[in-house]
Order: sequence, then C-alpha cells, then structure tokens
Amino acid sequence: MSRIAYVNGQYVPHPEAAVHVEDRGYQFADGVYEVIAVARGALIDEEGHMIRLERSLDELRIARPMGRPALAHIMREVVRRNRVVDGLIYIQMTRGVAPRDHAFPANAETSVVMTAKRTKPANPALLRDGAKVITIPDIRWERCDIKTVSLLPNCLGKQQAREAGALEAWQVDARDGTVTEGTSTNAWIVTKEGEVVTRKADHAILNGITRIAVLEIIARQQGLKFVERPFTVEEAKNAREAFLTSTTAFVTPIVRIDDALVGDGKPGLVAKSLREAYLVHMTEQAAEQGAAA
Ligand code: PDD
Repeated sequence: MSRIAYVNGQYVPHPEAAVHVEDRGYQFADGVYEVIAVARGALIDEEGHMIRLERSLDELRIARPMGRPALAHIMREVVRRNRVVDGLIYIQMTRGVAPRDHAFPANAETSVVMTAKRTKPANPALLRDGAKVITIPDIRWERCDIKTVSLLPNCLGKQQAREAGALEAWQVDARDGTVTEGTSTNAWIVTKEGEVVTRKADHAILNGITRIAVLEIIARQQGLKFVERPFTVEEAKNAREAFLTSTTAFVTPIVRIDDALVGDGKPGLVAKSLREAYLVHMTEQAAEQGAAA
C-alpha cells in the first residue's frame, strides 16, 4: 500500500510529496513541527499538541494556517488514508515560499505538510535491559521551548549517541553542569530518597507532552513525590533510577549514563510503573475517542 502525504491542501502519493526549493523551512529552518502518537487509531494528547503547536507558531510570528477543527480533520484523514492503527503523525508548518531574504516575507502563506506512518511495538530487549545515554554539551539556542525544525545540534548529538552505542545523548548546560534534556526526549531521575525529578519547563527545554502526561500521572498516584528542578550529571549518575520520555519512546528506562551504571544497572521500578501507567493513559484515550466516534 502506498503512503499518502498532505502538502498544502492536497493529498499526494508519498514519493511525490514535495515543497518548493524556496520554502523557508528548507532554506532557513524557519518552521515548527509536532509529532503525535496514534494508538488504536486515536490521537494521543491531541489538545496538548495543538496548544504547543499554536504557541510555537505564535512565538515565531508564523501565521496560523487554519483553525483547530480543520487541522483535526486533516490529521484524521491522513491517518485514515495511510491506514495507521498504531503509529505517528508528523506535522510541519513553515513561514512559506518566498524569494530568499532573511527578514520575513510580506505575504508568504504558511506551508503545511503532514505525514503518518505505522510504528512497531517497542523493542522488548530495550525495556527489559534498559537504555544507555551519553552526555554532551548543550550547544543549542536560548529558545528550546519552541518546537522548531531547526534541529541540527540535536541531529549531531543523536548521531554521537548512535556512534557510542547509546539510545540518546543528554545535553548539559556548560554554565552549571545540569542536564537540560535529550536530543528528542525529556530527561528524568529518581533520587535515592525516592523523589522523581525533571527540569522545570523553561526556555532551556521543550515542554514534552509526554512529560506533562507523566507529571499528571505522578500527581494522581499516591506515594510518588516529584519536584521540578535541574539536576547535574553527577547527581544523575548517583540516582536510583533514570528514564526518558517522548511521544515516540513513551517512558524508557535508562541504566547507564556515560560509563556509570544507574542504581543496580537494571530498569527501575518507578520507570516501569510510569511506563505502564502511560500505556493505560493511551488506552483510555483510545477508548474515549472510539466511544465518541
Ligand atoms: N521529539 N525534547 C525534545 C528536544 C524533543 O524533540 C522532544 C520530542 C521531546 C519530547 O516531547 P514530546 O513528549 O512532546 O514528544 C523533548 C519528537 C518526538 C521528535 O522530534 O521526533
């Protein structure tokens, strides 16, 4: 079955999906994106993703191309046409096509591209054994809260992780040695005192939608304390547990940071229970949307 992409008002075969060479996303990385999980055909945390998408557009003064109902319709259409049951939707919006000039064009129209794909279930070995991360300097700009397609430092970091046999690279603020976030995931630890720690969502990190969902799960669960504060690499290496969150990785346990084993070197109980609770959260959303359809 051939995949279908949405490009500026049209549904086109994926191999032919293209934007103009003078699209500002292509020339300046002048655009934003979202990745939304699809579970049993349902869009997970759609509202959170829409709020963040609108915020990213507004922060960069890129015109919103359409209202939420139109976008919701196209997302479902892309999922339907690609027969995605479990997978991902990718949405990209750029400042549009205009003769190359760094300053904003007077009348460019926001370009909208959307794709959807199926994904395989997580690798059982990864969940059983846990992941490794490396640490690297955070060389990004001061507005990492905006989900822009300008991802070159993230790509360099992820490649470095891959070459080191690691799943992810945790980026470290050179000024104080604290971990900001992964290249495409948020970073968490569980201290020896049992506190779940993740950085406050300021301009240094992307406020992950999975991060928000997991914070809500923790707030509901009795006995789990969380605190939003930065933590150093040293603290993470000495933590009882570490894990990462994202739309694509859900909650994934980390057992090694650089050459240090975290805790006893096995996935931690908190990470496991949060992953299970997050999967329940997805199932509930799918059931709600199924019931509404
Ligand atoms: N990445 N931090 C960064 C830098 C990210 O790029 C992402 C998401 C996250 C986690 O956010 P969320 O929970 O909303 O997925 C944190 C997506 C998945 C990507 O680029 O593919």
